[in-house]
Formats: sequence, structure tokens, C-alpha cells
Amino acid sequence: MAARAEIKFVKIAEPKSGSVVLLTDQNLKLGSVSGALVGKIGDAFSRAAAAAKFKGKATKSLQLLAPAGIDLDRLVVVGLGELRKVTAQDWLKLGGAIAGAAGGEGETTVLLEKPAGKPITAAEAADVALGIVLRSYNFDRYKTKKKDNGDDKTPKSRQYTLAVPDPRAANRAWTAAQAVAEGVALARDLVNEPANVLGPVEFADRLKGLAELGVDMEILGEPDLRKLKMNALLGVAQGSERPPRVVVMRWNGGKAKDQPVAFLGKGVVFDTGGISIKPSAGMEDMKGDMGGAAAVSGLMHTLAARKAKVNAIGIVGLVENMPDGKAQRPGDIVTSMSGQTVEVINTDAEGRLVLCDLLTYVQRNDKPAAVVDLATLTGAIIVALGNHNAGMFSNNDALSNALTKAGLATGEHVWRMPLAPEYDKMIDSKFADMKNIGGRWAGSITAAQFLQRFVEDDTPWAHLDVAGTAMGSPSTETNRSWGSGWGVRLLDQYVRAKFEGK
Ligand code: BES
Ligand code: ZN
Ligand code: MN
Repeated sequence: MAARAEIKFVKIAEPKSGSVVLLTDQNLKLGSVSGALVGKIGDAFSRAAAAAKFKGKATKSLQLLAPAGIDLDRLVVVGLGELRKVTAQDWLKLGGAIAGAAGGEGETTVLLEKPAGKPITAAEAADVALGIVLRSYNFDRYKTKKKDNGDDKTPKSRQYTLAVPDPRAANRAWTAAQAVAEGVALARDLVNEPANVLGPVEFADRLKGLAELGVDMEILGEPDLRKLKMNALLGVAQGSERPPRVVVMRWNGGKAKDQPVAFLGKGVVFDTGGISIKPSAGMEDMKGDMGGAAAVSGLMHTLAARKAKVNAIGIVGLVENMPDGKAQRPGDIVTSMSGQTVEVINTDAEGRLVLCDLLTYVQRNDKPAAVVDLATLTGAIIVALGNHNAGMFSNNDALSNALTKAGLATGEHVWRMPLAPEYDKMIDSKFADMKNIGGRWAGSITAAQFLQRFVEDDTPWAHLDVAGTAMGSPSTETNRSWGSGWGVRLLDQYVRAKFEGK
């Protein structure tokens, strides 16, 4: 794990030494403790603000180094903007901005007080802490020279002391938020890890630790998958020296009679395209083709670590898509676990072949109340939506509305795309029940239509195409990592709202 921030809450009081972060609004107003502290440096704050054109806008910061009149190393003032408009997401971003302004190792005290109005709540303080930790994530496992650390190869972390009105309440709120931070870090680690290190077996091994949190773990190997007749998934795996795994994670935090909710993840640890091989430029990004599986894994960690009151199942399909003497060919026909046959026209449309068998498996085994799958499924979704929305396809308005709402609450946005019989027709095959690609156009939709053919009895289902959001997205206040961990916060919020009444 590469998280590099430690959080502690204390009762707010004037700090006497070290680095201190204060909050201000768009009128450069300060809270009472912060105001008293700044009072000791005369007009240095207002002069520095004027010189730097610092206006207290949200996430902007102003640094005062070794300010005369007090015994502090530095004073950093971070803007909140217009106070009455500050949302949960803004507190999270503020945390990110605080970590950005605080920089490398050492200790920082953050005076979490609003310049006016009601005192900061425990939930808001926990959001700030979460923002700090998410921003501080840095995947440098393979850097032999760590920045700012001299010869010391063990990276040091920064300690944040968050000064709040009620430290005990803030700590309680932080326990749940910390579970989210850990889940996101796990997902990011898995996506960032190169494929030579993280094959299907190694991915499954890393998940074994979830058992300690109370997750019921089942790892299916090749003989199990053969017995289950997951031939669509096995067809993808057969070109790799490295055998596939399907990991089934069950978190039973709800009542025994509650129907579970299921999350499925595409876990192609590397996607060369197979015999329909991809061009070499940029192929290195295909180490992230398990971003859906990473998010599902991170989510299961989060739900278990915060003891969510829900019965949730997470299933990841782990395979490597390689060209080889044993690889599947264009034109091959496989019989999926559902019994439906698929003509594999393009071996690079492999994600849907993995997911279709997981869909059948979970519906027949667990009768879930809803199924959400996450997959870096198509390049076409990046053309359509870029990096700022995942594509959402669903047969159910209530489910897709709930996910849209969770997206707006967390900033992990989803945008619903259409499904229709006209698109479904595009994957009819001359030789089998369906083929694995449509035509040139609407590639993300025909991929979703393919998956929908495996949804039974109108089980509420949503498919999230995360090709544009799981990796390589632009850096934000709360993410500087290539693998973003996208989806963990979205689905955690969905579970809270839908199953825990929060
Ligand atoms: N893993 C890719 C999709 C992808 C592309 C994810 C770029 C992230 C970034 C997927 O398996 C794939 O190759 N899809 C093909 C489908 C086509 C063959 C119908 C694609 O998008 O080109
Ligand atoms: Zn793929
Ligand atoms: Mn592919």
C-alpha cells in the first residue's frame, strides 16, 4: 500500500510550532483560533495575500514561510471560497488541496474551523481527511530513488493533526471514511501494478487478505471453471501461459433474508488483443484492463472494513488475453455457461466474453436483487464521453437513477447510454446465437447489448464502461495516480443510500 498520510484529530487550540494550515473564505475572513494566530504576525497575511493576488478561492493556497512574530515553520492559508456553497465534495477537494500545499514528509497541523457560521461537523472533517489521504497516494514501488528522502528507500509519510471542535466524533466519522480510503488505494495499487507482477493468480492472491476483514472468499481455478462450463471466459484465457481465476467475495453485513447486491468486474490483467492483436503504440496501458475488477475488489474491502449493513457479492474474472499457438481464433464458436453460443469474430472484444459467464454464474447462484458490472470494455466509450463520465447501460430506471445520484454525490459521474432492439440485431451471427462484435458504429452500445443477452428474468442490471475513467484520467485535487480507483466511492455511496438508508 502506498498511502502516505497519517491522520489524527485533536481539540482545536492555538498551535505553538511546526507547519500550520488555516482556512479562509472569499473575504479572507478567518475563524477565531486562526484569527488569533494570524493576529500575531501583524499585517503580513494581508500583504502577502495582496502581493500573490490570493482571494481565498476554493482550493487556492497562500504560503507564508517562517513568519516573523510566531515560532512556526510555515503558515499555509487555504481557500474555502463562498462558505454557504461548500458541499461534501468541496470538503474532500479541500483536503486534497491541503495535502498538495503541505507537500512531502513531516508534520502539519490543520485548523479545521469555518471563518463564520456553524462549527465544522464530524462528517465534514472526515471528508477533509479522506481528501488528504486520497491526494497523498503515490505509487512509487518501483522507484529505487525516492524523492526527498536521501538514501532512505522507505518513504516517509506526512502526519496530519486535524484540529476540530469534537475530536471523538470526528474520529468516529473517520473510521468509515478510512475504509473508503483503503478501498480506493487497493484499487489504485492493482491498476498501477505491471502485468508481469500481477497475473490472474497473483491478483487472486492479493485478495486473500480480505478474509481477515470477514469477507467470505472463494477462488475458482481452471478445473472449477470447466465444471461450471464458463467456456466463454476460458476461451479468452487459453492463449496465456498463466491460468485464469474467478474470485467470489461475499460480505454478509445485512440480514440473512436480505437479497444480495452483486458487483462484477472485468479483470483482464493484460489485453494484447489476442490473435486480433492490438497496435503496439500505447499497448502498455492495457495493464489497466482489470480496472473494473480492481474497483470491485476495492469496494469489497471498503464495505467489509466499515462493516456495511448489506449483503454484497463481488466477483472478478481474471484472465490474460494473449496470442499463442493455443489462443482462440477469429471464427471460433464457444458455448457460454448460459448455453448460448458465441462466434468470436474479434479476439480483442474479450471483456464481454469474460463478463457474460460471470453474469450467468451470479444470477443462477445468488438470485441478486441487482447486478452492477464494471469493465474497461470499449475504446468507443472514451470517444463518446472522455475521462469525466463512465458510460452506463441499464435495463432498470430505478437502478440507473440511484447510480446517477451516487455519481453526483461523489463526483464519480456516470452518463446513461441507450439500449434498443435495433442495436441488439447488430450482434446476430450467421453461425451462432450471437457474435462478439457489432459493426463499425456504436461499439460501446453493441458491447452492452451483448451483456444484456445474459441478463435473466429482468434482473435489475447496470453495466458501467469505465475505459475512460479507471486509468489515465487527468489529475485532480484528490487523485494524482494513473490508476484512479474510480468506482469505489461511487458504489460505496450507492450501497449507503440504497441499502443503509444513509
Ligand atoms: N480493453 C479494451 C478497451 C479499452 C481500450 C480500454 C482503450 C481502455 C482503453 C477492449 O478489450 C477492447 O479491445 N475493445 C475493442 C473492441 C472492438 C474489438 C470491438 C475496442 O474498443 O477497440
Ligand atoms: Zn480488454
Ligand atoms: Mn480487447
